[in-house]
Amino acid sequence: MTSSWHRIGLVTDIPRRGARCVVTPIGRIAIFRTAEDRIFATEDRCPHKGGPLSQGIVHDASVTCPLHNAVISLTSGEMRGPDEGRVRVFSVRVDPLTEVIELSLADDVAAMCEAAE
Ligand code: FES
Repeated sequence: MTSSWHRIGLVTDIPRRGARCVVTPIGRIAIFRTAEDRIFATEDRCPHKGGPLSQGIVHDASVTCPLHNAVISLTSGEMRGPDEGRVRVFSVRVDPLTEVIELSLADDVAAMCEAAE
């Protein structure tokens, strides 16, 4: 399956140590900005009981779920306590000149997004 890059906004649209969401046909995707301006994307659903990770606290390259404090790695998607699990991680890239964030989506998902607009 092929994928392509989709512009989703600017780095400055996301508060440092915070997140914004993109709604797609495969669910909400959380876009995180760390204190060091690194950008990550994961599904916005904690593997423990579905907590909204976009409302969690971002620290280093991790987010703490707002419901039961599981820590999720933003690089691998792996969860550390209170349960085991993993969230899906998406590729993102940032243009260093314009600070535009682009998200990689499978072409079939991107086509569904465009059809919904
Ligand atoms: S729902 Fe995230 S830790 Fe429970």
